[in-house]
Amino acid sequence: MSEPNLDRWRRAQDHERTYWQERGDVAKIIARRKPHYEAALARIAELLPADPVVADVGSGPTCWTRFLPGRKTYLDPLMAGYRERWGAMLPEGTPIAAAGEALPLRDGSCDLVFSVNALDHSANPEAMLRECARIARPGGLLAISVYAHPPVRVLIGRLRDAVGFTDDPHPHAFTRRSFLELFGRCDLEIMEVLDLGSVSFRTRIGFLRRTEPLVLARPT
Ligand SMILES: C[S@@+](CC[C@H](N)C(=O)[O-])C[C@H]1O[C@@H](n2cnc3c(N)ncnc32)[C@H](O)[C@@H]1O
Repeated sequence: MSEPNLDRWRRAQDHERTYWQERGDVAKIIARRKPHYEAALARIAELLPADPVVADVGSGPTCWTRFLPGRKTYLDPLMAGYRERWGAMLPEGTPIAAAGEALPLRDGSCDLVFSVNALDHSANPEAMLRECARIARPGGLLAISVYAHPPVRVLIGRLRDAVGFTDDPHPHAFTRRSFLELFGRCDLEIMEVLDLGSVSFRTRIGFLRRTEPLVLARPT
């Protein structure tokens, strides 16, 4: 994995901060996106023990684990701003400002480590996934998604990044294959891949569409 490009990550986070301050309406986004996550959340709930300890990494202000049982910790580098802007919308639980690459939680302390649409926003996805694995208890569950792009779009994204010509808030672009390969490198066993379907993108051309695979995995 190449060295993290912190300048690129900071630019992406500036974009993210502005979006959630000015344009992203949390209630509307939850209402619109809930059908996209509903079946996956139900499947995850089936696999959890009673009263689980849950970490939602890169939770944004949406905090999708609000729809799961248990004691939640919501972790996101922009959490301080989310609390200021969206405090009333944040669900019960513990919000913490923290990056996924350095989670302030103990080894093996969580029954579920959940992270949707955040790994590809991080500075270093592999370091973040290793941290998610570290805080999962032995036999615990990880539920992780990213937007997966067709290879040609990944290539275009890299070229645009190389010349600094992008305001894409995702510093990393995965194909489905490169996303799944990451789990093996982090000593995680993939149990299931839930295909959540296409996510918004300005194209009607099927093979150019991006999708959102959600991987259920366990530490090996
Ligand atoms: C598109 S939002 C997704 C938020 C939420 N998970 C959702 O699906 O609605 C991406 C989130 O990833 C967070 N993020 C960026 N870099 C991160 C990192 N290094 N560790 C954890 N989260 C990060 C951003 O701050 C942002 O809140």
